[in-house]
Amino acid sequence: MRNDVYDIGEVPPLGEVPPRMHGMLVRPDRFGDPTVAIRDEVLDVPELGAHDVLVATMAAGVNFNNVWAARGVPIDVTKGQARWGEPTDFHIVGSDASGVVYAIGSDVREVAVGDEVVVHPGQWNLDDPWVASGNDPGLAASFRVWGYDTCWGSMAQFTKVQEHQCLPKAEHLTWEEAAAPTLTGGTAYRMLFGWPPHTVQPGDLVLVWGGAGGLGSLAIQLVANAGGRAVAVVGSPEKADYCRSLGAVGSINRRDFSHWGVPPRWDAPAWRDWLDGAKAFGKAIWEAAGEKTNPRIVFEHPGEDTIPTSNFVCDRGGMIVICAGTSGYDTLIDVRYLWYLQKRYQGSHLMNTAQAAAFNDLVRAGTIRATLGAAYPYDQIPQVHHLMEEGGLPDGNVSCLVNAPQTGLTTLR
Ligand SMILES: NC(=O)c1ccc[n+]([C@@H]2O[C@H](COP(=O)([O-])OP(=O)(O)OC[C@H]3O[C@@H](n4cnc5c(N)ncnc54)[C@H](OP(=O)(O)O)[C@@H]3O)[C@@H](O)[C@H]2O)c1
Repeated sequence: MRNDVYDIGEVPPLGEVPPRMHGMLVRPDRFGDPTVAIRDEVLDVPELGAHDVLVATMAAGVNFNNVWAARGVPIDVTKGQARWGEPTDFHIVGSDASGVVYAIGSDVREVAVGDEVVVHPGQWNLDDPWVASGNDPGLAASFRVWGYDTCWGSMAQFTKVQEHQCLPKAEHLTWEEAAAPTLTGGTAYRMLFGWPPHTVQPGDLVLVWGGAGGLGSLAIQLVANAGGRAVAVVGSPEKADYCRSLGAVGSINRRDFSHWGVPPRWDAPAWRDWLDGAKAFGKAIWEAAGEKTNPRIVFEHPGEDTIPTSNFVCDRGGMIVICAGTSGYDTLIDVRYLWYLQKRYQGSHLMNTAQAAAFNDLVRAGTIRATLGAAYPYDQIPQVHHLMEEGGLPDGNVSCLVNAPQTGLTTLR
């Protein structure tokens, strides 16, 4: 007899889609700490549109956007879901997955039931005039983050995605390894190769903030693979060793400096102290690089704490490329450094399918390591996000099992 709902880890026969499923949800009436906001509930499996694919999630990658979704900050993610015709009273977290295709919409051609896939997180309206004209879908007005701006995220037994989001899973990776790198890796790929002429060239020096983190651990490898030289910024000596093992030419411990945050006004006496700190940091980059060269690309995401320094140390004609403001959004750019040395301050957000596929091909070829720091069981998803917010997760990327068998896991105490 067909089950109404399967237990976590109990996979239905291929192609059999039960009416109900388990999922990790946030609801607006419990926004707050992830341990309170994110909860397991049983709900209906979503209906598919003509271009949609239903993936049985084997493992789901953990990303910071789930923390923002749980907190309801800076936006209430459920409000925007109406725009895509989705429910607005709940939101399933998760924007990274590995899994098996269980059902396809009537117009799906490139993906078949039984395919083993990873899922990239960029979605858009397929009939968006910008996209239909052949432009970068990453810049479309209908662009959205699956599992953040949309309802049916990866931390559920089934997830609804668009056909183009499905990419072939690297055969040599376990489900939990495969689930981890696509969101951060594709984002790093767009930041480092999506904004010509500031793409990583052989010999380029690239400063990578948070080098041991999800984004940074993949950015270092992408820089090294393109012949560039990554200098990683880290918060401990152990993380420095990890970054070197990924291909960084050197590292800087940010705890050795104290000039972080918004600097005093340029005409205040205390501004000089800030400048001394920024100059000392610049010198530390030269020492780490082994030569007096400034970074042509600065890979930014901490935001408020670090942008003034990034703007100061970036090379003449170089680019600060930023995808987040983890430490805050009210940052300061001293425009003297920007205009006089003709630097570029470039925002970047996720990826398009071509960029996700280019990154995934490097993973499939074994050129890029998946940097899985740990994998946790499904029921610990809320605590894992609490730890992420506190900076308490292991180096690299982290994933959680959904339907995959539980082997070699790290369990939180
Ligand atoms: N827009 C997008 O497309 C996109 C995509 C992916 C991620 N993101 C965002 O990017 C951010 C980083 O993501 P992630 O997955 O790499 O997170 P992560 O794994 O937690 O790593 C971030 C690293 O940044 C460093 N860091 C934290 N606070 C800092 C501060 N005040 N100053 C300097 N460094 C600091 C920490 O390393 P140390 O302590 O070792 O220095 C930390 O390990 C998050 O806010 C995430 O939401 C945005």
